[in-house]
Amino acid sequence: MRALHVPAAGEQPQISDIPTPEPTEGTVLVRVKAAGLNPIDNAVAAGFLTQMGLPHEYPVVIGRDAAGVVEAVGAGVDHVAVGDEVLGHVLLAPPISAGTLAEYALLPAAAVTPKPAGLDFTKAAALPLAGAAAVQSIEAIDPQAGQTVLVNGASGGVGSFAVQLLAARGVTVVATGKPEDTDRLTQLGAARVIDYTAGPVADQVRAAYPDGVDALVNLTGMDPSAAPIAAVRSGGKVSGVAAVPDEATLAAAGLTGGPVMASATREVLAPLAEQAAAGDLQVAVADVLPLEQAAEGLGRLAGGGAGGKLVVTVEA
Ligand SMILES: NC(=O)c1ccc[n+]([C@@H]2O[C@H](COP(=O)([O-])OP(=O)(O)OC[C@H]3O[C@@H](n4cnc5c(N)ncnc54)[C@H](OP(=O)(O)O)[C@@H]3O)[C@@H](O)[C@H]2O)c1
Repeated sequence: MRALHVPAAGEQPQISDIPTPEPTEGTVLVRVKAAGLNPIDNAVAAGFLTQMGLPHEYPVVIGRDAAGVVEAVGAGVDHVAVGDEVLGHVLLAPPISAGTLAEYALLPAAAVTPKPAGLDFTKAAALPLAGAAAVQSIEAIDPQAGQTVLVNGASGGVGSFAVQLLAARGVTVVATGKPEDTDRLTQLGAARVIDYTAGPVADQVRAAYPDGVDALVNLTGMDPSAAPIAAVRSGGKVSGVAAVPDEATLAAAGLTGGPVMASATREVLAPLAEQAAAGDLQVAVADVLPLEQAAEGLGRLAGGGAGGKLVVTVEA
């Protein structure tokens, strides 16, 4: 099968033929129609997960989100069958090897769910990791209707879902973005959009909300000490899947919370897919690229300004 893969440790990703994987116990082989891109794909392609001590089995296929048609199932899989349209995710587990930027992808059954008919393959492929990250970041702060939450990094894939999910809970959402993102974020449900290029986000939030916001969901940055926690009132909460200070650091600042590690299991994906199919959750697909341009898409994601999810379509 054709796949964007890293052939061996230290090598550059390339598209060429590699063996089609065989389904094993608890896995689902999916004929990929579309694969959503995420920042972690660039980390895998660059070999960064090796530095985290995760063993790699080469070739390592890039990509973790997919939507497609079930080609085969392994032993013990009974919630989907051959021919079903599904979406799913390659959960982060050793060894790092399977991926979705390929004609076929081997997914753990725990992260495969039927695709509702009303959701197309492209949008379904954009949903898993970013949607789960948004859901789980919000669950961690459990905001109440009427509270105000700052979403930093709101213009990206995770943020575009988080803004909508928070607004649907009756939360007043303060979102960050560039000026060109304002209309899109407002349409997704943001009550106020802060231009993160115009000055420190925490200062801008405090100027608008002198008492501070009730919580922060941080979805951008590499340095936890740079997270705009100063925007949050004393006793408020902080979560997020990007750079978030640890519990002790937050406690010292009079806050609770900590970083979240997203897990796009089928229990999380099924309701998200239903919401998207019903039109209650918009899937902000910024661009759709053929497999041959997947590496270019990953470059765009790394460079910023994608304006939502990038999805790669695969013709088998
Ligand atoms: N741990 C986990 O389980 C997990 C899961 C999913 C994602 N993540 C991480 O979460 C982060 C967000 O993921 P994503 O898929 O949403 O990525 P993304 O689509 O690249 O979005 C990141 C967003 O952050 C914005 N941004 C960049 N610099 C900013 C700044 N200084 N202040 C405010 N916003 C800024 C970008 O805006 P521009 O477009 O203007 O550059 C972009 O819209 C990434 O770091 C990703 O690795 C972690």
